[in-house]
Amino acid sequence: MSALHQTAPYDVEAVRAREFPWAARGERIYLDHAATGPLPQRARDAQAEANANRAELWRVGFDYFWAGIVQGRELAARLIGATPEEIAITTNTSQGVNLAARALPFKAGDVVVSSAGEFPANIYPWMGLEKAKGVFLELVPMKHRLPDEDALIAALDRPNVRALTVSWVSFATGAKLDLVRLGAACKARGIWFVVDAIQGLGPAAIDVKACHIDVLANGAQKWLLSPWGTGFAYVHRDLIQELDPPAVGWLSMPASADFTRFLDYDYAFYPDARKFEVFTAPMHDLKAMAASLSLFLELGPAAVEAHVTSLADHVVAWCDERRDVRLVTPVERARRAGLLNIAVDDLAAASARLAAAGVSHTVREGGVRLSPHLYNTTAELDIALAALAPR
Ligand SMILES: Cc1ncc(COP(=O)(O)O)c(C=O)c1O
Repeated sequence: MSALHQTAPYDVEAVRAREFPWAARGERIYLDHAATGPLPQRARDAQAEANANRAELWRVGFDYFWAGIVQGRELAARLIGATPEEIAITTNTSQGVNLAARALPFKAGDVVVSSAGEFPANIYPWMGLEKAKGVFLELVPMKHRLPDEDALIAALDRPNVRALTVSWVSFATGAKLDLVRLGAACKARGIWFVVDAIQGLGPAAIDVKACHIDVLANGAQKWLLSPWGTGFAYVHRDLIQELDPPAVGWLSMPASADFTRFLDYDYAFYPDARKFEVFTAPMHDLKAMAASLSLFLELGPAAVEAHVTSLADHVVAWCDERRDVRLVTPVERARRAGLLNIAVDDLAAASARLAAAGVSHTVREGGVRLSPHLYNTTAELDIALAALAPR
C-alpha cells in the first residue's frame, strides 16, 4: 500500500514531543496553519545544518545542496500521486498559477472560469492574462458565501471556455471543492483544470491523477510546514512537451548540465517539469522542505487527513451546540479540510480573548479562522473554543 492511502492512526503525543516540543510543553496553541505553518523539529534541524553548511560552503559539496531539490521533487510527487518528472520546484503558489496562466496555449477570446471569493493569488495572474492576450476571466458567483460547484460546472458549457481554475480549499470559509467531480467535468469537455492547493494539501490528501488536474500550484509555507520561499508545481506529463515556459531558465536546458560547456548554447528544454524551474533556488530551505514532506509521508497523508478531520469534527460539533456562534465552513466532512471559519458577534473581543489564551489564529472575512493540523489535540481546541465564546 502506498503512503498516500495509509490510514492507520499515528501517536500524536509522540509527534508533538519529537517534532513540536514547544507545543508539547504547552507554550503555545498554534491554530493558524492557514496563515503560516511552524517548522517541525526535523525541518529546523535540516535548515540549521544547511545554513551552517551554506555559511562555510567549502565544507560540503554542491551535491549536498542539490539533493534538497531532487528530494523535494521526489517527495512532493509521492505526496500527490505524481512522478518526480511532473514536479517543478517553485518558491510559492503564485509562481505555479502564473505558470498555468502563461504556459497553457490560450488565445484571444478564450475564457477561464473561476469562482468569486478566490484568494487574489489565483485571480491576478488570470487578470494579467486578460491584459496580455485578451483571455477573459469569468467569476461564477458564490451561493450562500460558498463556491457553487454546480454553477461552476454549468459555466464550463459556455462558449470558448478553455480552463477552470479554483482553490481546492477557500482561504476565507474553508469550503473544500470536490476536485474529482470538477476534474471529471473538465476532462469530459477537454478543458484544462488548474488547482491552487495551498489551503488543502497537508490536512487533506490528494491524488492528482484521480482528479484529472493539469496544473497544481502549491506553496509549502503553510500546511506543508516548510520555510517561506519553498513550494512546487505539478504539470501533467501529457502537457509538459506542449507548454512553453513563461520564464526561461538556464538550468531548464540539458545543455547547461555540463558546467564545463556553458557556452555551447542549445535552446532545447528538458523533456520533464525541470523545464519550468528558473534557478537559482533557495537550496538550504529546500532541504528543510524535504524534511517536512518526509514527515507527511512517514505518518501517511491519509492518516494526517483523518486526524485533522477528527479535530474539525470536534469544532463542528461544538458550534452545533451553540446559538452565539455560526460555523461559516460547511458542516459536511467532504466539504471541509483543516480550515474552520467561525462567525461571532463581537469579533474583536473574541480575537482578543484567543490571544490572551495564547491561541494563534486569524480574523478573516467576518469570522475567526482556526486551522488545526496534524499535531494539534482536542484538548488544545477546547481551550481555544472556551476562549472564543465563554459561556
Ligand atoms: C488560496 C491561497 N492561495 C495562495 C496563497 C499564497 O500565495 P503565495 O504562496 O504565492 O504567496 C494563499 C495565502 O496566502 C492562499 O490562501
